[in-house]
Amino acid sequence: MLRSALIAASRSPRCRALVEGLPVARPIVDRFVAGTGVADALRATRELTTDRLVTLDHLGEDTTEAAQADATVDAYRGLLATLADAGLADRAEVSVKLSALGRALPVDGDKIALENARLICVAAARAGTTVTVDMEDHTTTDSTLGIVRELRVDFPWVGTVLQAYLRRTEGDCAELAGPGSRIRLCKGAYDEPGSVAFRRKADVDASYVRCLKVLMSGQGYPMVATHDPRLIAIAEDLATRAGRSEREYEFQMLFGIRADEQQRLAAEGRRVRVYLPYGSEWYPYFMRRLGERPANLAFFARALLGS
Ligand code: FDA
Repeated sequence: MLRSALIAASRSPRCRALVEGLPVARPIVDRFVAGTGVADALRATRELTTDRLVTLDHLGEDTTEAAQADATVDAYRGLLATLADAGLADRAEVSVKLSALGRALPVDGDKIALENARLICVAAARAGTTVTVDMEDHTTTDSTLGIVRELRVDFPWVGTVLQAYLRRTEGDCAELAGPGSRIRLCKGAYDEPGSVAFRRKADVDASYVRCLKVLMSGQGYPMVATHDPRLIAIAEDLATRAGRSEREYEFQMLFGIRADEQQRLAAEGRRVRVYLPYGSEWYPYFMRRLGERPANLAFFARALLGS
């Protein structure tokens, strides 16, 4: 219930104005977001890549103007050039949301998002790194997979995300576990109806394990995106059974969440990648993070009351 309310609030302009205007929000946002500019992102990338890998997200989503989508492309191109200049492109890639690249524009949204994503892929290739396309709500799953399929014709290293809470995902894993694929498996962060998604945690976790089995026994590169210690242990076990070395899959976690576990896995020789968001459009991302853990909201509420 609470999670649904926060996800609804993440799309409300009124709530956005309210939360963005609260001075007490900033320190809590800083826990999940690396700062507003490329310099902040670069600083965090340098720190994290001493023992981990990074995927950078220039925050933004649900773009409704073509000029804004163009600005997002420019931001990613600038970021990728900066990573290359700093010698970090072998340890840092980028994650992009197609809704930030114009998919929701009223005319030719998918086509515009594809062309914009292509420009980012060209810049990534030039920098010597990769791109992963994030997954958004279930109404966009087919569109995302279609666009990723087209991108992979020219850029076979483009990865994408599958969400274990969707009933369709085990089938998608089977379809997408072929040679060269890079699939990030996460639980899913949106509020989806029972007709398309598992709603109970136990069912989502069981689906996650079934999907992991498919990906680990497939021929692609699984990216295990979870902070859940039980699923991390199961992933390690499945990887061993599938004969995968530590280089043939990776763990992924979000910036600011379970950093101790990220470091522990990295110290044990696992590949660990941190999803590192930065930028001024932090509101929807932040609200989804609050919704994932009631303790986050309680912390936020205490900060508000104390201000
Ligand atoms: P779960 O929510 O069960 O949490 C397990 C434990 O992790 C908790 O008990 C707590 O200790 C810790 N934890 C989890 N979330 C926390 C939080 N917000 N604050 C503090 N502690 C927390 N989703 C999506 O729909 N599309 C996408 O493209 C992506 N991309 C993505 C990339 C990466 C690298 C990650 C790690 C996650 C995503 N997600 C995502 C988000 C994902 O779907 C999911 O909402 C979160 O990862 C939380 O789920 P867990 O698997 O961590 O399990």
